[in-house]
Amino acid sequence: MIPFNRLGLIFKIFAFFIYPRSFRAVFLSVLQKVPKSGAVLDVGSGTGILSRFAHDVRKDLLLTMIDPAPGMLRFAPGFGRKVIGLAESLPFRGGSFEALFIGDAFHHFGKPQKAIGEIARVLKPKGLLVIFEIDPGTLLGASITWGERIFREPAHFYRPRRLAGILAENGFECTISHYGWRYAIIAEYAGFRTP
Ligand SMILES: C[S@@+](CC[C@H](N)C(=O)[O-])C[C@H]1O[C@@H](n2cnc3c(N)ncnc32)[C@H](O)[C@@H]1O
Repeated sequence: MIPFNRLGLIFKIFAFFIYPRSFRAVFLSVLQKVPKSGAVLDVGSGTGILSRFAHDVRKDLLLTMIDPAPGMLRFAPGFGRKVIGLAESLPFRGGSFEALFIGDAFHHFGKPQKAIGEIARVLKPKGLLVIFEIDPGTLLGASITWGERIFREPAHFYRPRRLAGILAENGFECTISHYGWRYAIIAEYAGFRTP
């Protein structure tokens, strides 16, 4: 497994470079749609880089960062709430959040389907979801998939349309944007749950 708990300082310095400028522009435009003083959850937040981007432009947002690795959260910014926990069992009441981000973390979740159920549960109807991921259908993405398997990571990588399809089955309306070997899904939760 990748020892995220010991990589906090590395991610604090380098996580910024994971996200292309063009994605950051799209991300910031999505943030403008979050209601004033909205509650926002950063899942698999690591050192909270997406929360930092959000705080830079929306100081009013109530940010919560959740990650199982305390060694990552230790380096997260002080302006948000920090919670140790897993995407598969989010310790929040249903309908708690106006928006939810997952940056470069979804493929690390051991039970992605369960995590999607939890994401749908904690989002309010019309809540916004942003997932930034690696596309295993590209050469670099496929190499990373193999690399993570060597590290015995879950490596739950999905092609963009496949992940969008699974999200749609769970009540999300999705749009996909591509960044070479990475992609983002921007989705709105329609407010229903499949049985
Ligand atoms: C590559 S890091 C990305 C961190 C951060 N989002 C960023 O962009 O820098 C992946 C993160 O996912 C977290 N993670 C792994 N399994 C998880 C799970 N089941 N639920 C939530 N987070 C998880 C790891 O602890 C790690 O901090």
